[in-house]
Amino acid sequence: MPHALNRTEGDINLSSSRKGWYSVINDAETARFLDEDARYFLHQSLSTPCLDVLVSCEGIYLEDLQGKKYMDFHGNNVHQVGYRNAFVLDRVKAQMDSLPFSPRRYANIPAIELAKKLGSLFPEDLNRVLFAPGGTSAVSMALKLARIVTGKHKVISLWDSFHGASLDAISAGGERDFRKGMGPLIPGVERIPPPTTYRGPFAGSAGDDMAYAEYLEYVIEKEGDIGAFIIETIRNTDVQIPSQAYWTKIREICTRHQVLLILDEIPIAFGRTGKMFAFEHYNIAPDIVCLGKGLGAGVIPMAAIVARESFNIAHEVSLGHFTFEKNPLGSVAALAMLEYIEQHNLLIKVREDAIFMKEQLDRMHQKHSIIGDVRGIGLLWGIELVKDRHTKEKAVFEAEKIMYECLHRGLSFKVSQGNVIQLSPPLTITRDELSEALNILEQSIGSITI
Ligand SMILES: Cc1ncc(COP(=O)(O)O)c(C=O)c1O
Repeated sequence: MPHALNRTEGDINLSSSRKGWYSVINDAETARFLDEDARYFLHQSLSTPCLDVLVSCEGIYLEDLQGKKYMDFHGNNVHQVGYRNAFVLDRVKAQMDSLPFSPRRYANIPAIELAKKLGSLFPEDLNRVLFAPGGTSAVSMALKLARIVTGKHKVISLWDSFHGASLDAISAGGERDFRKGMGPLIPGVERIPPPTTYRGPFAGSAGDDMAYAEYLEYVIEKEGDIGAFIIETIRNTDVQIPSQAYWTKIREICTRHQVLLILDEIPIAFGRTGKMFAFEHYNIAPDIVCLGKGLGAGVIPMAAIVARESFNIAHEVSLGHFTFEKNPLGSVAALAMLEYIEQHNLLIKVREDAIFMKEQLDRMHQKHSIIGDVRGIGLLWGIELVKDRHTKEKAVFEAEKIMYECLHRGLSFKVSQGNVIQLSPPLTITRDELSEALNILEQSIGSITI
């Protein structure tokens, strides 16, 4: 039986399809390194044992030991400006030669410039910044700051949400599989259903997700003492795109109840959706934003929170206190990434690519009955696979088969929720490369029979 419940954040590394995959990459050298990897690392879900052994990357491509290239439509969401972007690398290399590390208690110019730059990109008074070495740590800082600012410790999040893998982040997140067997977590987390327009139990007519917004107010009023609502503006993994009405209502509810709106844009900021930040599509301003992943341009781990000026009140508390806080390397990488996006008009390009993606994927939707829904924005697309369009039963094994077939043909992506193919290529991808990837995908879908 398919074990759909265990397939949430991404495809799993223990399935029978994964075992079959190892016969595809069966050269001795690769097998030896995969064995060593599996020998020395602690095994964990979604990671070790691994898929393949990489030796290089460039642009949209990963390259393995045998010289096989994968177009990377996943990239852990770090590759907005492509892998080994020369503009970024030159800046990072130059910084390495001067100040590669800056101990806490000292300021450094790249970090100041990045804080200033980030602040300038945000609306209203969102201009206070803290850096961290990873997205999970940014979420952690945001949750701490919200407690200090509001004096209230409870937080609302969405079922199925992922905000990082540390104990506090899995406590705040909504994925049962990450909490399973972990014992007591941080108290005071309430969860509400995620806004889903396609499969959701509260979804009305197509596009109507307002009941999900009303649920927020219901819980705030019933529970009391809620200080923050943490949510991805657009859910990255299975690509859930709330309506304008949803976001207008959520902002209004949070403001009325003095609940801070924390937007987690860790995977989708920096142009992924065709705007620098996804919340810009909705004409709303958050209270705290979490950033990460692509902030370090696929070179240096780097994350941040950006918060309102008036939240600068935690002088006597350590919100972050990370060794690699004001990382000069991460700062120059981020500054170069932002400059590259601006200089190459990537936001406009992404919006044009979105039109092409929609045309192509809508055509596939009409042609292939296994595709139950296609949704996306910018260069973030989800293709939901179903056994039957009426029952919407998830096509879990078929999704995995298609993924491994695509990997075989040189296209890498992630499957989320067991049946959603998620496509998020580098924003620098050319139209020819996009077409080639979609051809591979369509051929692979065509090769599957339900
Ligand atoms: C929405 C979201 N929030 C937070 C995180 C955690 O980021 P990191 O892995 O850098 O700690 C992730 C990572 O996948 C994410 O997708």
